[in-house]
Amino acid sequence: MSKVSLKIDGQTVQAEAGSTILQAAEGAGIHIPTLCYHPVLPAEGACRICVVEVAKQRLLLPACTYPVAEGMEVLTESPQVVEARRFVLELLLSDHPQDCLTCEANGDCELQDLAYRYQVKRSRFQGEVHRYPLDEANPFIARDMTKCILCRRCVGACRDIQAVDAIGLAHRGFDTKVAAAFDAPLQDSTCVFCGQCVAVCPVGALTEKNARFLGRSWEMTRVTTVCPYCGVGCLLDLNVKDNRIIKVTSNWEGPANRGATCVKGRFGYEFVHSPDRLTRPLIKANGAFVEASWEEALDLVARRLAEIKGQHGPDSLAVLASAKCTNEENYLLQKFARAVLGTNNVDHCARL
Ligand code: SF4
Ligand code: SF4
Ligand code: SF4
Ligand code: FES
Repeated sequence: MSKVSLKIDGQTVQAEAGSTILQAAEGAGIHIPTLCYHPVLPAEGACRICVVEVAKQRLLLPACTYPVAEGMEVLTESPQVVEARRFVLELLLSDHPQDCLTCEANGDCELQDLAYRYQVKRSRFQGEVHRYPLDEANPFIARDMTKCILCRRCVGACRDIQAVDAIGLAHRGFDTKVAAAFDAPLQDSTCVFCGQCVAVCPVGALTEKNARFLGRSWEMTRVTTVCPYCGVGCLLDLNVKDNRIIKVTSNWEGPANRGATCVKGRFGYEFVHSPDRLTRPLIKANGAFVEASWEEALDLVARRLAEIKGQHGPDSLAVLASAKCTNEENYLLQKFARAVLGTNNVDHCARL
């Protein structure tokens, strides 16, 4: 692909023809703030926080959608640009609860970061504000539409990543809001509760319901892991506090899923801390399960496998591998079947 040469903040930058000013700046290590833009989504050009000054252009231009051109000269933090960004932020804050004290997104909110960066403490614009009730009726997602900045990232994630298209923009003008068809509750819509909309929301409008008030973002450690549920092998980040999983967030580097998950991977982690979970082997004796040590359990299994093999031959045995195991574990299982038990009766739960 051909390259164009342009100047960004006085720095000469080579960028691919057809790329945006934002991409060119990022490639050169120059940060341009964004709100509606997310790298995994098509650019919306909705918020205008990314505007930049381009020489010989009458208006400020959105860096996330405007393409580079040969000889272009761009300023990303000129006084005019900063003033425009502060204006956008004031407009957003004029209809925002600003309850950072108890907001789940505090410390992990792109609007908060930008207000801090551009020192916008309050809005000079006073007017009508939205008063939507907090929606927690579904099992997984808390929706506080008073905090929504209408960036449409959630709509794009639902449509373009998950291909569900459960939500869109309803109504017009001041009444515009993100909603499922006919403004129905999410649980009565086509939503599959993958949580991808939560993952891309830049503010506290969409949050994980079951993580509310369990911890601040800076109190949690992110532990990258592979989802235990199926063979897709999605990469996830467990957000852990005091040795407990508080929530699961997207890992955008996941080679199999690029940050996307299904409902199981995103919200199905409660089993990890379930008091009903088996932590020791059980051996059935006189019709009842009795706790045993690993040595006792493994000795019993080895003895019975040897007995069955001796009495009925190796092909009377079979092993079933599981998608919940790692490749290495499944490899060992088939090796055990063929080399130790002496049978090729190996199957996998995904075929059942
Ligand atoms: S949870 Fe998934 S399916 Fe439901 S609205 Fe969000 S992105 Fe769409
Ligand atoms: S709910 Fe979040 S992601 Fe969706 S439009 Fe509002 S602020 Fe953007
Ligand atoms: S998140 Fe869903 S699709 Fe991905 S590995 Fe887990 S169960 Fe499979
Ligand atoms: S980030 Fe460019 S318009 Fe929103």
